[in-house]
Amino acid sequence: MLFRKKKSKTIALYPENVGDTLRHIAFIMDGNGRWAKSRSLPREMGHKKGAAVFEKITLHCFSRGIHAVTVYAFSTENWSRPQNEVDAIMALLSEYLDYAEKKFKDYDARLVILGDKSRLSPELRAKAERIEEISRDRRHVLNIALNYGARDEIVFACNSLIAEGKTTVTKEDISSRLYTAASGDPDLVVRTGGDFRISNFLLWQSAYAEFYFTKTLWPDLTETEVDAAIADFFGRHRRFGGL
Ligand code: IPE
Ligand code: IPE
Ligand code: MG
Repeated sequence: MLFRKKKSKTIALYPENVGDTLRHIAFIMDGNGRWAKSRSLPREMGHKKGAAVFEKITLHCFSRGIHAVTVYAFSTENWSRPQNEVDAIMALLSEYLDYAEKKFKDYDARLVILGDKSRLSPELRAKAERIEEISRDRRHVLNIALNYGARDEIVFACNSLIAEGKTTVTKEDISSRLYTAASGDPDLVVRTGGDFRISNFLLWQSAYAEFYFTKTLWPDLTETEVDAAIADFFGRHRRFGGL
């Protein structure tokens, strides 16, 4: 069955069971600071609004039948921001984890943190690990990339394999030691905020992902635009190097 969105400029078609083909969607949530600046608000307010949008968009993706959602929340490079901004982002993430602990059961959703948790505060780390543990057998996956860098992730995977005694490795070995081992590669990567770059996100996993770039700032992203991105994905011809 196909949906036809009559009012959009291009007629968008996508199957009812989106999750059969689009199993994993990843978001580079960019533009919080510019959203705040354009309203003469402190950058922290952009992150606050961004956190609310992230909650809404994730649930929307699950309701569409998408199995795994990944959000890029904080990169290994984002520590170079002013301390008050870093503290505000960490406080919002901690609040989000409280919400996830209460609500994720209703959505049959599992939490996975992608990234090196050792640099997080002991409280945030303990909370994240507790929720990861209690949610581990659930159907959907929400990956939050937090202190995440794709190059660090690949180095971590290789070092894990060396520590296990491997002297040569396969692509499958590396994939299985990445932080995303539970959810696999993204089918679609969406970047908000108008920049056309990957910013050290899922370098290995997005080898054959489809990309959707939008100028919309993350706090302005709506479910309707996510549906447009999904429709766009279903209009693509993924060849994986074939014909
Ligand atoms: C994305 O928004 C959130 C994080 C990187 C933590 P930004 O804070 O990068 O917002 P802009 O790009 O400055 O507008
Ligand atoms: C990418 O956004 C990281 C996150 C969304 C968490 P940045 O704002 O850090 O990326 P650059 O600096 O524009 O590449
Ligand atoms: Mg940015």
